[in-house]
Amino acid sequence: MFSQQTGIALEYEALLAPLDGFVRCVAAFFEAGGGGVNVTLPFKEAAFDWVTSCDEFAGAAGAVNTIVASDRAYRGYNTDGIGLVNDLTRNLGYSLGDKRVLILGAGGAVRGILGPLLGASPRCIVVANRTRSRAQELVDRLEDPRLRACDAEHLDEGAFDVVVNGTSAGLVGAMPKISERAIQGSLVYDMVYGDNAKPFRDWAIANGADAAVDGLGMLVEQAAEAFRLFHGVRPDGAAALRRLRDEQA
Ligand code: ATR
Repeated sequence: MFSQQTGIALEYEALLAPLDGFVRCVAAFFEAGGGGVNVTLPFKEAAFDWVTSCDEFAGAAGAVNTIVASDRAYRGYNTDGIGLVNDLTRNLGYSLGDKRVLILGAGGAVRGILGPLLGASPRCIVVANRTRSRAQELVDRLEDPRLRACDAEHLDEGAFDVVVNGTSAGLVGAMPKISERAIQGSLVYDMVYGDNAKPFRDWAIANGADAAVDGLGMLVEQAAEAFRLFHGVRPDGAAALRRLRDEQA
């Protein structure tokens, strides 16, 4: 869709790397003249280790989801957080300024989003995880006074404006456990998309959230940002998202 929108001809294909063969796979791709790759689970940390240099968000996350080649140097980026913030602010028209944000989870998916979220000027971000120590590690890494870690099951701070589910629970049909007090009147955002996001969204709406959306827009917007890094032109994420939602419907 981005190629059609911008008139930039490209070949874009999926490469399935063996679990122990990420470096071999990506090196062969660039050796054969590839210009750039998007990297997904479970290779974002391996991509961070492999690139020649990286941008600030990838550095803070220790994870790379976009690699751009130039003159045999490979620069890594992390566009996940920009994708989330752009979906919230541009597609959903929601301003994060001065808002109280709750993030559930403290794994690889969450690492990539904290920097860009902080850049959108929230009042505070609480990272709540089943395993509190992982949340604390993430928060300590970024050293920002607006960030706080806590234990997801003992969260008792009233309602948040925005609640982002960044756990992988939905991928196995489960749901993170949090108090319903946290989601009263909230915008609930699940970073996974499609049916995997449904149980948590349904729970949120049934228990007092104002709205609950899945992460399809984040997927599109992180790709739009990656496309800009590859081609120097920013495609229209909102138009692509509308088409995908129509096709889904
Ligand atoms: P990813 O890279 O997808 O984030 P990960 O690094 O394995 O994967 O992290 C998964 C996250 O989802 C973690 O925060 C995990 O909590 P723990 O750190 O306590 O393991 C969280 N998670 C996974 N399943 C969960 C569940 N059923 N309930 C709550 N949190 C869950």
